[in-house]
Amino acid sequence: MTLFIALNEIRDRQDPSLSFDFVCRAGICGSCGMMINGRPGLACRTLTKNVGPDVTLAPLPVFELIADLSVNTGKWMRAMSERLETWVHLKQRELDLTRIEEKMDPELAEKIYELDRCIECGCCVAGCGTARMRRDFVGAVGLNKMARFRLDPRDGRTDDDFYELVGDDDGVFGCMSLLACHDVCPKELPLQTQIAFIRRKMAAQGFK
Ligand code: SF4
Ligand code: F3S
Ligand code: FES
Repeated sequence: MTLFIALNEIRDRQDPSLSFDFVCRAGICGSCGMMINGRPGLACRTLTKNVGPDVTLAPLPVFELIADLSVNTGKWMRAMSERLETWVHLKQRELDLTRIEEKMDPELAEKIYELDRCIECGCCVAGCGTARMRRDFVGAVGLNKMARFRLDPRDGRTDDDFYELVGDDDGVFGCMSLLACHDVCPKELPLQTQIAFIRRKMAAQGFK
C-alpha cells in the first residue's frame, strides 16, 4: 500500500475534509510531495511498509500552506522561473516556422533530457536549510534549470548571462553545500554535480 492509498482510505472513512494533492499517482506530476517522517518525499511512491508502523506526515515547509498536507508549490516555482527566465531564449528574434529545426546531437539531447526530468515536486527545496532561511533562494531546482538551459544550443544567452542570473546569495552562492537536495530528489537528478559545476565555472570566470 502506498501513502496515497492510505490517505484516501483515511479521507473516505474518517475525515472527508482531509486535504492533500495528487494527480498522476505515478511519480510524474510532482504534486504529492510531503514530509514523511521528517523527510521530503512523494506520497504516491512511498510504501507504508517502508515507513511504518507509525508514520508522521506534514506539509512541505518553505511553500505557502493551503490546508493540511496541501501546499502551493506552483506559486514558488513560478517566481523562481520568472527570476531565472527558465525558457529557451531563441537566438533568432522571430520564430521562423518554415525553417526546419536543426538536429541536435543525440548525446547533448540526452544530457538535456536528464536535467529535464525534474517534476518540480519541491522536495529539494523543502529539504534545504538555505531555502528555509532565504525566501528568494532559487534552490537546487532553480540551479538545475539554469544548467539545463545553458546546455541548450537553441538558447542565445551566454555563460555570463546565466551566471549573472544565479551569481548572488539567492543563487549559487547561497548554497551551503548541505546536499539534502541531492539525497531527497525522487528523480535522482545529479544536483550535487550540477551545483559543483556551476560554482567551479563561475570561480574560474572570476565571479565571487
Ligand atoms: Fe523535485 Fe528533484 Fe526537481 Fe527538486 S530537482 S523539484 S527534488 S524533481
Ligand atoms: Fe540546499 Fe542543496 Fe545547496 S540542500 S544548501 S541547494 S546543496
Ligand atoms: Fe503525481 Fe505523486 S501524484 S507525483
